Amino acid sequence: MNIEEENIAIHLKDVGIRYGTTVALEHVNLQIRKGRITAFVGPSGSGKTSLLKSLNRLSDLEKDCVVEGEVIVEGFGDLNAEKIDLVSLRRSVGMIFQKPNPFPISIRKNFFLPLRERGIKDKKESDRRMEKALKRVGLWDEVHDRLNERADRLSGGQQQRLCIARALVLEPDILLFDEPCSALDPMATEVVEGLISELRGELTVIIVTHNLAQAKRIADEVAVFWCAGSCKNIVEFGCVSQVFDAPQSDFASQYLSGQRG
Ligand SMILES: Nc1ncnc2c1ncn2[C@@H]1O[C@H](COP(=O)(O)OP(=O)(O)O)[C@@H](O)[C@H]1O
Ligand SMILES: [Mg+2]
Repeated sequence: MNIEEENIAIHLKDVGIRYGTTVALEHVNLQIRKGRITAFVGPSGSGKTSLLKSLNRLSDLEKDCVVEGEVIVEGFGDLNAEKIDLVSLRRSVGMIFQKPNPFPISIRKNFFLPLRERGIKDKKESDRRMEKALKRVGLWDEVHDRLNERADRLSGGQQQRLCIARALVLEPDILLFDEPCSALDPMATEVVEGLISELRGELTVIIVTHNLAQAKRIADEVAVFWCAGSCKNIVEFGCVSQVFDAPQSDFASQYLSGQRG
């Protein structure tokens, strides 16, 4: 796929990721389009989470993790080559995890602390931004009268929406979702899926999901990861209809049809 330079949010050139001597991914080349939703699918252990974490250098926190090649993120250049301001990178490239991880403090402080780190110390301004973000994820009506209660007492679905709001309040350019619905019930899943879809056009979104139907519903592009023998790579990448209806690689075709993986 050839994409014009100004429409690329993330460009990976011959990226490899390993943990000590364990290779997670090799020779990954990928261009992620700005403002689109890209799904990463593939069997467990095929390197999806590892690749996500390389995009905001959370990989630095993994023991013995080495990322090779060029990981070019718009506005930051090659994360491996340049001197990167990590606070600024992680504000710009936010991440939502499988298990909702609100801070075990009040709902209000979940917003106040990251905003303060970003230099917004005024309580009124912080409250204003929190309200906007909570409204955006449809949580304001549910929590406006309990902002001083602990965020980890909310239901799982509410916690995940709070985590999305907490990421949005920092006005990121890219949001990474690592199986954001796998700990949620079907109703909460539908709500979170809807929220992610609404980000299309505004942010660049990557979502790792085991749920192929979900990828089909919400993604524009899909990357199929595969890890077997000497193949540790993305074996298929393209728009949803092409990847699901006419996959080029045998691995992708067998995985997507449920015969393997
Ligand atoms: N912190 C780590 N230390 C060592 N090996 C790891 C670590 N994280 C992941 N791996 C290995 O890297 C490979 C890819 O894992 P991961 O990126 O978690 O895959 P996925 O998200 O697709 O399930 C696997 O072989 C896994 O065991
Ligand atoms: Mg994973």
